[in-house]
Amino acid sequence: MPGILLGDVFPNFEADTTIGKIKFHEFLGNSWGILFSHPRDFTPVCTTELARAAKLHEEFKKRDVKMIALSIDSVEDHRKWSEDILAFNQDKACCPMPFPIIADDKRELSVLLGMLDPDERDKDGMPLTARCVFVVGPDKRLKLSILYPATTGRNFDEILRVVDSLQLTATKKVATPVDWKPGQEVMVIPSLSDEEANKLFPAGFTLKEVPSGKKYIRYTKP
Ligand code: BEZ
Repeated sequence: MPGILLGDVFPNFEADTTIGKIKFHEFLGNSWGILFSHPRDFTPVCTTELARAAKLHEEFKKRDVKMIALSIDSVEDHRKWSEDILAFNQDKACCPMPFPIIADDKRELSVLLGMLDPDERDKDGMPLTARCVFVVGPDKRLKLSILYPATTGRNFDEILRVVDSLQLTATKKVATPVDWKPGQEVMVIPSLSDEEANKLFPAGFTLKEVPSGKKYIRYTKP
């Protein structure tokens, strides 16, 4: 799968979407962005995912993250499918969908971004899109990509958690440990000396002793 690597400038593709034609970079403006792909319209797992994403859109907005979905069907199909998605949420107040869906019915973007899942095919034998998640920073560079097969739905709470980590670590010389949640302690990055860490973090850091005697597990408050 060719795809796009961390740190690459995300392609400034043009696409038809449920809000009209867009150019990706202009759509993002100075915000962060999340692009998530779906195998097909009118499929059960995708419907649950998009319904959850729609419910969480205020949380993404708070973090200045613009959301955009992609599926390999037409704008017309996306619009009809959106009614199902909103009804699934029993959310009549939230109409239309709070973010656009890209119509990649020619699979051009799916090929460009390396998103096709060779193990999942439609009834004509054509490959379907995998469940990709791309988080793009305000500098238009790829900050994170996660790839799930069509048969495994994503956890959007985890995606929000990851955005919190990306945004924190973009500005502070820290890293977030396993299962980290906002408000919890973070770790001093290994490239920082103890002296530098003491200067950067007014509360200093605490060291976890380990059998090797090496002093590399350092916790601090962001
Ligand atoms: C679904 O969204 O339910 C789905 C799509 C393609 C393959 C398997 C499941």
